[in-house]
Amino acid sequence: MSVFDQSEQGQKAWSLPTSEDAFEVFSPDENLKRKSEVKLPEISEINLTRHFNFLAKRNMGIDTHFYPLGSCTMKLNPRINETAAQLPGFQRTHPLAPDQEVQGNLELMWELTELLADAGGFSAGTLSPNSGAQGEFCGIQMIKAYHESRNEDRDEILVPDNAHGTNPATASMAGYKIVTIKTGPNGDMNLEDLRKHTSSKTAGLMLTNPNTLGLFSPNIQEISKIVHAAGGLLYYDGANLNPILYVVRPGDMGFDVMHINLHKTFSTPHGGGGPGSGPVLCNDKLKAFLPLPKVEKTENGYRRIEEDKNSIGRICTFNGNFAVYLRAYLYFKMHGKYGLRKIAEMAVLNANYLKHHFARLFKVPYPQPCMHEFVVQADRFLDKGIKAQDLAKRMLDYGYHPPTTYFPLIVKECLLVEPTESESKKTLDHFIEAIEAICRECEESPELVKEAPHTKPITRVDEVRANRSPKLRH
Ligand SMILES: Cc1ncc(COP(=O)(O)O)c(C=O)c1O
Repeated sequence: MSVFDQSEQGQKAWSLPTSEDAFEVFSPDENLKRKSEVKLPEISEINLTRHFNFLAKRNMGIDTHFYPLGSCTMKLNPRINETAAQLPGFQRTHPLAPDQEVQGNLELMWELTELLADAGGFSAGTLSPNSGAQGEFCGIQMIKAYHESRNEDRDEILVPDNAHGTNPATASMAGYKIVTIKTGPNGDMNLEDLRKHTSSKTAGLMLTNPNTLGLFSPNIQEISKIVHAAGGLLYYDGANLNPILYVVRPGDMGFDVMHINLHKTFSTPHGGGGPGSGPVLCNDKLKAFLPLPKVEKTENGYRRIEEDKNSIGRICTFNGNFAVYLRAYLYFKMHGKYGLRKIAEMAVLNANYLKHHFARLFKVPYPQPCMHEFVVQADRFLDKGIKAQDLAKRMLDYGYHPPTTYFPLIVKECLLVEPTESESKKTLDHFIEAIEAICRECEESPELVKEAPHTKPITRVDEVRANRSPKLRH
């Protein structure tokens, strides 16, 4: 019997493989067979379980610890979404199955794109990109295709000096020159600098609003006017969408195209490299250039369009990270627009509560109300040799994952703190107490902080060397 069995109708039907099948499929030559037994390590199931649980407990994750990692939105990922992501009907879909056999999957993809486009204030979109950075690449390629279709020769992308590193990296990968725009003393983009650098060479501006300092730009419409007047387009980096969801939409602010990090705002666990998803939404100007495959709703159901001469082409394999779409779809359906807006409001409230208390302890360079995150200039104890990194390491001993350190680059000894909406006031109060205790230690026993962490299996590592010459093994 073979793995495929001919049914009476002559169609191939599945049947479980037997050990005979295994030999039929793979029967190596005698001379290739082992002569001696393989020495595999032997361990009982209970000991193996304990070993992995022990290792897991040494890790710090959102499930075990408060994790205020700025620009990452490390929030609760509802468990029910994990169950949905594992539903066999979805999980076992073959990526090459014909459209008529995967109507449910296509409907979900179509509907999720509509929901995301509505949330962003756009008319069309794609779910394809597998990360925020890939979404940026997709969007910038669409901007490029737009200018090319109009025979316009534009080779510059404007990027603010507080941008996430992926923004200039993306534009540069797409072949553009990067023009850096300065931040003003209030944390907003310096409009004079923007005017000075915007020209007929400008293909577009990449911006996140709120920016990486956690500040919403009151000048966003003026920024949009300046860039559009010069014929450029506006790209919205949606990594910071969480605090404005259903409060204000990037499309209404004047942006032409954006990505959304589903693994930040829409309930997919992230960190550790993925899987992620960075759907791209756009307005009518850019719609024609969206990548393939495009999912279309017709009178007879849903279909994938695999060819289109205007499209920038494929950006991912098959249909992207489908299990991430499932989680995002459920998250939308569970909360509804009103619930999503409440989430945004709570994220902003929590960040401002923490910011208020941090301002008692450290310099907060932009004191105005923030959105979902804020920056702290943690240079108060430099005279004692204590840097932002030392404070971050000591937080580990108190049971807190540290905030993002040394980003954005324009803030000295920077800590970027993002509590998210998931945390209770009690958790935030305990965190504040821990920071107060660490500040006291800095005064009374600075060595304790400089040599932290004291409770972790790994203490200080040479991070520069670890990055430059990593020892990779498995
Ligand atoms: C502001 C900002 N833009 C873009 C990205 C890139 O997103 P991803 O990590 O999904 O590629 C990040 C990621 O942290 C970010 O914080």
